Amino acid sequence: MTSSPTPRLAPAILEYYNQGREDGRLREGDGRLEFWRTQDVLRRVLPEPGGLLIDVGGGTGIHAAWLAADGWDVLLVDPVPAHVEQASSLAGVSTRLGDARALDVDDATADVVLLLGPLYHLPDPEDRARALSEAARAVRPGGAVVGATINRHAALHDQLNRGGWFEPPRRARLAATSASGLSLTGGDFTLGYFHHPADIAAELSAAGLDVTGQYGVEGAAWLLGGIGGYLDDESQREAVLEALRITESEPSLLGVSGHLLTAGRRPGRYAGL
Ligand SMILES: C[S@@+](CC[C@H](N)C(=O)[O-])C[C@H]1O[C@@H](n2cnc3c(N)ncnc32)[C@H](O)[C@@H]1O
Repeated sequence: MTSSPTPRLAPAILEYYNQGREDGRLREGDGRLEFWRTQDVLRRVLPEPGGLLIDVGGGTGIHAAWLAADGWDVLLVDPVPAHVEQASSLAGVSTRLGDARALDVDDATADVVLLLGPLYHLPDPEDRARALSEAARAVRPGGAVVGATINRHAALHDQLNRGGWFEPPRRARLAATSASGLSLTGGDFTLGYFHHPADIAAELSAAGLDVTGQYGVEGAAWLLGGIGGYLDDESQREAVLEALRITESEPSLLGVSGHLLTAGRRPGRYAGL
């Protein structure tokens, strides 16, 4: 158990999520690609379902719902009260208000810890190190930690597609984010940090985790016009997912994806199930 007080979520992040747009983000349009790809990768990299999975930064429970249906005993932890309240109605999911930097769980109790959100909302490297070492502490030896990050040039690519890049003040903001990784309030996102793939791998290693793989979530597909049209048809969607499985860990393409999953393992023999 950690004895340090729970750190405070930046007010700008709370304000951003209090707009209530998060729940729909992955359920409609092109956002579904992130959902299906995250599910596809996690189902292949996690151990067999059946133990405790802590979904840190789990939001409204978009992934917690199917993970629980797959057989995981899910504990969702999130600092936004509205997210926790919504997730608390999900079958098989218990919830707790909390912060990735100070998990209120005993050492070595989880089979899996997911950080699908906190790492791109913690601009201070010390905060990210705390979140990762908390995940490494909470997971059993041999258990898995998977972190999602937003790639360094994702906002620039996104706005080049959407046209925002052609508005000079926005372009200056996007160029600054590409240079530093910092996403500041007042832009298209909120307070955040956008990683290079090698940097998040180094952060997992520094927390004592063995990096077992990196997977581009949307690959290059999110930058291809019209990809959303293929997602409506199940067989075409499967074909898109097949293409992305082929390219997901290609080193030269990792940073092109909007999101990246980095999987790690706490050293030691897995004694979970
Ligand atoms: C974009 S949402 C992602 C939700 C879901 N995990 C997913 O992958 O779609 C980011 C989530 O991270 C949470 N978050 C932000 N800072 C956090 C922190 N310091 N500790 C834990 N969660 C945090 C937010 O409240 C939000 O629910």
